[in-house]
Amino acid sequence: MQYGPIATESPLVLSPMAGYTDQPFRLLCREQGAALVCTELLSSTAMWFGSERTGEMMDFTEEERPVGVQIFGADPVQMAFAARKVTERGPDYIDINLGCSVPKVVKSGACSALTKDPERLRAVFQAVVSSTHLPVSAKMRKGWDEDDVSAPWISEMCQELGLCAVTIHGRTAREGFTGTADWDIVRHVKSLVTIPVLGSGDLRTPDDVKRRMEESGCDGVMIGRAAMGDPWFFARTNHFLQTGEDPPPTPPSARLSLMRRHLRMSVEHRGEHVGVVTFRSQVAAYCRRIPGGRRLRDAVMRMDRWQDIDAMLYDYEQASIEGSEIEEGGEVE
Ligand SMILES: Cc1cc2nc3c(=O)[nH]c(=O)nc-3n(C[C@H](O)[C@H](O)[C@H](O)COP(=O)(O)O)c2cc1C
Repeated sequence: MQYGPIATESPLVLSPMAGYTDQPFRLLCREQGAALVCTELLSSTAMWFGSERTGEMMDFTEEERPVGVQIFGADPVQMAFAARKVTERGPDYIDINLGCSVPKVVKSGACSALTKDPERLRAVFQAVVSSTHLPVSAKMRKGWDEDDVSAPWISEMCQELGLCAVTIHGRTAREGFTGTADWDIVRHVKSLVTIPVLGSGDLRTPDDVKRRMEESGCDGVMIGRAAMGDPWFFARTNHFLQTGEDPPPTPPSARLSLMRRHLRMSVEHRGEHVGVVTFRSQVAAYCRRIPGGRRLRDAVMRMDRWQDIDAMLYDYEQASIEGSEIEEGGEVE
């Protein structure tokens, strides 16, 4: 896939997810074959007011490249400022979030609310594009609601103003995460513009990815919830797209070993308290694919010290290498 000047071998991109796609998780997904990774949405207003935390959230490691930083805001001046701040950090691209529909953000006129104000949206695009030499993309929903399907005209505006790619999540803002993603809108947008179009929404298996790419003709896809606790989703799907074969699932010992690494990386990145809390947000998803995982998940959720969690994961890892089972075992949720 060609994403502006970035040529990727794979069409699979890690979807930005607030609270999940931090540095450690982005790196794990890149290692498993995600073509691009991106920060979660970062507030241009917070950058404008010098938020230290938002500054830290822009950080990335060289190993993550190609890596993007996603920004949002309704004020062209603040968005231009944010674009300059991000550019100083030197990521590979900037993505503009037009999809978030949480009430606090919508009330500020940003993200999905911005799609209802074409003139302001145009000003925001122009402000960002003219404030950076980096490629700029946008990620949007199908529209505000079924009576206001904006992805087609916004994608055309993106192309006109020099953005390098668009991603469409086939749900309306009003739908939130209910219902199912509409991939016809991805196909429709692909027929309208020549810049790369990526689709997003409900890709749960390698077969979903292949089918949706074929049906919509999109250039790439974003993988969100399916990657939680399963960075191998990228390797498996890349393999499936290349060979038509779905490789066997990652063995529990490898899952447990990677969980331990993820935990260590999280603690190194954010310190013990925040690192453990962040890691725990993906534990349920990791454990779903491990025999005896429910019991492991419940135990980890009660632990605060990273060495305790690591020791428990180590015990499970050893047991799965030896082929024995911890506790009653055998259950795969
Ligand atoms: C917990 C969570 C956080 C999200 N945060 C962001 C975000 O920061 N920026 C963004 O563009 N989309 C965000 N999304 C939307 C996803 O990137 C993606 O478009 C959506 O989840 C549909 O894809 P999926 O079915 O593969 O998860 C988020 C989704 C979830 C579930």
